[in-house]
Formats: sequence, C-alpha cells, structure tokens
Amino acid sequence: MASLPALHLPATRSFKFFPQKSPILPTFPPPNRRFSAVGAYKVLIEHVGGTTELEVESDETILSKALDSGLDVPHDCKLGVCMTCPARLLGGSVDQSEGMLSDDVIDRGYTLMCVAYPKSDCHVRVIPEEELLSLQLATAND
Ligand code: FES
Repeated sequence: MASLPALHLPATRSFKFFPQKSPILPTFPPPNRRFSAVGAYKVLIEHVGGTTELEVESDETILSKALDSGLDVPHDCKLGVCMTCPARLLGGSVDQSEGMLSDDVIDRGYTLMCVAYPKSDCHVRVIPEEELLSLQLATAND
C-alpha cells in the first residue's frame, strides 16, 4: 500500500476562515474580546428550576454554558440587544462590555447573561425581563 505524501500547510492557513477585514463575516475574535488562558470559573445560577453550579470558561458566556447544560433560561437574540436574558449579579464579576445595559444599571448589579463572560467565580439569579425594563425606565427618567 502506497503512503500518502506529507501535507505541509503554512501556519497562517487556519486563519483564512475568519478574515479580519471581511464586510460580511464578523471579526474573530470580536475586537473588544480577548481570549484568556485563565480557564474556567464556577458560576452559581439561580433559575426557575432551582440552583445549578456550572464551570464557565472565561471566553464563553454564562447563557451559552447554561443552554449547553440543558438549563431552561429565557433568551432570544444572544447578542445583548433584546434584554430577554437578564440576571442579578449577586457575587463575582463579569465582562459584559458587548451588551447594551447602561453603566448605572450595571452598577446596580444587573447583567445580560448572553454577553456575560465570567472574570471570577460568580453567583447570578435569573430575573423577569420586566424587572430590568422597569429599572431602565426609572434610570432613564432620573
Ligand atoms: S438574549 Fe437578547 S439580550 Fe440576551
């Protein structure tokens, strides 16, 4: 049996799937996201079905991990825009710089799980969308 010739590809070949200047495809990674070698954090999530602890990598969102783990948590756009996935951040810290929440709402301890990347072990409680919307209206009128 004849052996196949060795395949030698240039090191940059694997990045052609994510062209940085493409007008169609998003940049990868997004410009304000950095991949970290920190690893995973423990995230405790209080949701309608109970309380679940997950290991969430620093480069994945809490919502993504929750859905992958089979949790039934509200969501829609997964882009930080529709505000269907709000939670109270009861402990720890997250990077949510990709989301649409105003700084004063974030300062009051709210987060959108679809854009929340853990920066430490965290504790979050899923809340009704109406709680966040009423807070946003109140802070907009301040
Ligand atoms: S799913 Fe739309 S803001 Fe999170």
